[in-house]
Amino acid sequence: MSYIDTINEQTRPRSGSAQNTGCFAHVVGWGVEVPEKVLTNFDLEEMVDTSDEWIRERTGISERRIAEDRDSTFTLALRAARKALSQANVSPRDLGLIIVATSTPVYLFPSTACMIQDKLGATQAGAFDLLAACTGFIYGLGMAAAQIRTGMIEHALVIGAETLSRIVDWSDRSTCVLFGDGAGAFVLSASDDPGGIIDYVLHSDGSGGDYLVVSSGVKQTWNGEPRRQSLTMNGQEVYRFASRVMSQGTQEVLGMAGLKVDDIDLIIPHQANIRIIKSAARGLKLPMDRFYVNIDRYGNTSAASIPLAIADAVEDGRLKPNDKIVLVAFGAGLTWGALVMDWAVEPTPRSHLREALRESWYILASIRSLLRRLWRVIEAIFWRHDKSKHLESGRSDDEDQE
Ligand code: ACO
Repeated sequence: MSYIDTINEQTRPRSGSAQNTGCFAHVVGWGVEVPEKVLTNFDLEEMVDTSDEWIRERTGISERRIAEDRDSTFTLALRAARKALSQANVSPRDLGLIIVATSTPVYLFPSTACMIQDKLGATQAGAFDLLAACTGFIYGLGMAAAQIRTGMIEHALVIGAETLSRIVDWSDRSTCVLFGDGAGAFVLSASDDPGGIIDYVLHSDGSGGDYLVVSSGVKQTWNGEPRRQSLTMNGQEVYRFASRVMSQGTQEVLGMAGLKVDDIDLIIPHQANIRIIKSAARGLKLPMDRFYVNIDRYGNTSAASIPLAIADAVEDGRLKPNDKIVLVAFGAGLTWGALVMDWAVEPTPRSHLREALRESWYILASIRSLLRRLWRVIEAIFWRHDKSKHLESGRSDDEDQE
């Protein structure tokens, strides 16, 4: 082995491997949420110079969901999270980590994850937003699984949530037909039982960042000029990149896990374009029925696309307990990643009492949040009062601390 090969071997990402540890990260519950409003290709024909036939042939999309004004990435994510916690029968106060993978956070800060933490009453959880575009959910699962495997936390909530309709340029036919809104959440828990998330690979190549850009977040330049907010994309370059990395990523993660494509029951690809999924199938020499596709119903929902596809696959009976699955995605950044896992989720049977207790907890969480805000106001009044007393007596805060 050459020096370069040795270095490559040593630096090859191994963070995903669960095979040498005694603690495993299992998905124990999931929940999804999509807005009610459906925007069909025929609706888009009224808005831009396009046709249902062109969109279906070139992308596989028939319709997508669009968030109403009252909804946001936060509200969709919160509803998905509550469903996932309920199905997993995990209490929010037992969560050690909340990750929200999103490119459309409500604010740059506070993070949407912190807003979720507050509303759930997840008093023990660290919380942050993760931006890896459409690969975000796989990045989030990888981060959470790593925390669980090292024994740092016992339970994690990973959410992929987007309101892409808010950043799409609705006059640009080459992008506006592609995207939709939605959210999906997974609860992960530690277990001694082998399985769960087996391996993952995460990659990035910032040299291709220009292909997919939203110059959002900071709305103005330093001299007050408004910045363009909408998404711009070099569709053909993204298409070429995606067609290559979807099969490469799958093969790489399978190699790490010591598995072959034939060991995999179902591949859940990021739902961006049916032709990209077909090209991945050709690259892996697999028939299309080994891939799950629901792009026709939702379009590209970025970080929400994989959890939405998993929920539909379970609903359709395509994904069954103890199936081995690969999740694979690509996105802006450029980023890409793949993850292989045992789908061993046995939903907890519903109990009215447990649901009622859970609802009461959320009410208590809202009251707790209100009281904490109130306490901050009271604390600030005392602090100001103390400060003015110190100023009158001519002492500085530093002197006071000494
Ligand atoms: N309706 C009708 N015609 C259209 C439309 C439309 N909605 N959009 C583009 N066209 C036209 C173009 O103007 C062009 O016309 P011309 O030949 O007269 O110039 C023609 O159709 C062909 O355009 P192409 O760009 O070559 O079409 P292509 O087959 O490449 O499909 C598409 C475009 C669907 C965008 C494809 O390139 C694609 O899917 N790329 C990947 C996009 C993607 O996956 N993005 C991921 C985003 S992930 C994230 O992180 C957010």
